[in-house]
Amino acid sequence: MKVVRAAAELRSVLEAPKRAARSVGLVPTMGALHEGHLSLVREARRSNDTVVVSIFVNPLQFGPSEDFRSYPRDEAADVVAADAEGVDLVFAPSVDEMYPPGRSTIVGSGPLGTVLEGASRPGHFDGVCTVVAKLFNLVEPDVAYFGQKDVQQVAVIKRMVTDLSYRVRVVVCPTVREKDGLALSSRNSYLSSEERQRARALFRALDAGRRSIATGENGRVAEVAMADVVAAEKGVELDYARAVEPESFDEPHPDGPVLLVIAASVGQTRLIDNLHVDPRDDRSARVVS
Ligand code: PAF
Repeated sequence: MKVVRAAAELRSVLEAPKRAARSVGLVPTMGALHEGHLSLVREARRSNDTVVVSIFVNPLQFGPSEDFRSYPRDEAADVVAADAEGVDLVFAPSVDEMYPPGRSTIVGSGPLGTVLEGASRPGHFDGVCTVVAKLFNLVEPDVAYFGQKDVQQVAVIKRMVTDLSYRVRVVVCPTVREKDGLALSSRNSYLSSEERQRARALFRALDAGRRSIATGENGRVAEVAMADVVAAEKGVELDYARAVEPESFDEPHPDGPVLLVIAASVGQTRLIDNLHVDPRDDRSARVVS
């Protein structure tokens, strides 16, 4: 496996597989790889000739008071994990390599980037779109892999792919969870053991929302059910708990599929999660992701 830091070298290494029409799968990450990331890597490995993993903590997607500096970084461990999964190439550029001095172009995420996560983290999705657009331009992957855990990010990126005519297929892989339901996230490493217990409230809230929808209640009732679970958990502060239509993130259609989305701070750590529920589908009576 090769670790490449320069954009020019990345392009030259990828020339041969591209000339041979070998498919290239890209897994964009910010490192601190966990089983969630590795599930994306495995999916990419199953379906592509060449697998590229990018590791880049993207400053553009962090607000001024957010955790860019303290975001977990362990490149050595990430490289070992990527190698063990059969990755061909790790692209781990510096900030200057990705954003040369004088950089002024930003890819806007549009209306979808201003609600929910976008409302709480202004500019976040513009930062995501900008770095993902750059990665798509550099790697020119046939397929790119993202996790369902960041469901709004996926929606914003799919929109960008359509709007900017990228020739990449976006594959979304299911959220990987701990046994008690907590979605894997690099930020879970910030949690003390007490906070880790409290963090279960996010999944319990989603499950309460799911039960509410499955018994025929509307989105508003599900939102109250989710908020009630979080309110009962000391040390967990709700940002939002919403039931939305899964594509547009608007109000859900009556009897249509619902996406439950939640964001809450556990101590200083902000966590997000989501769950798809389809009231028309018997299987939605169980956890689906
Ligand atoms: O999901 C992430 O880890 C990041 O938002 C991404 C897609 C790698 C862009 O920096």
